[in-house]
Amino acid sequence: MSQRKTIDDLFVHMLSDIYSAEKQLTRALAKLSRTASDPQLADAFKTHLEETQGQIERIDKVVESTGIRLKRVKCVAMEGLIEEGAELIDEIEKGPVLDAGLVAAAQKVEHYEIAAYGSLCALGKQLGHEEAVNLLKETLEEEKATDMKLTQFAEAAGNRKATEKQ
Ligand SMILES: [Fe+2]
Ligand SMILES: [Fe+2]
Repeated sequence: MSQRKTIDDLFVHMLSDIYSAEKQLTRALAKLSRTASDPQLADAFKTHLEETQGQIERIDKVVESTGIRLKRVKCVAMEGLIEEGAELIDEIEKGPVLDAGLVAAAQKVEHYEIAAYGSLCALGKQLGHEEAVNLLKETLEEEKATDMKLTQFAEAAGNRKATEKQ
């Protein structure tokens, strides 16, 4: 039977979910950085890996400031997105085409994170978790900036090289 849940419960669940997602991502971004052929792209993944580690620490601060306890959940959406990226790596030889695929896979991840942090900000605001919302917003902005950086890469180097190779 379904249980009656509160907005607080939902906030805890969603925060626990994105915590799991970020943890999974630290491993995936390291792999993306090793796999990318373009040094600029490899560097972008590495930079975002460092940011992601900071985002995990930020979630710890959100937990502290709100006094909530995270639940043990696995973000299955992130697991799936990472799996799709891994499939590309298995199927495409290293080079500009794989790089373009990695950019697309990473952007799907960023969009998921943008949705998750956007919702968390809205819920946190509703619950009056002011400090938490400020922290979550910082992460939201990093995710948006990363997405934009990847779009620029796709438009410039990535796609051009992919076409040249044909
Ligand atoms: Fe993140
Ligand atoms: Fe991200």
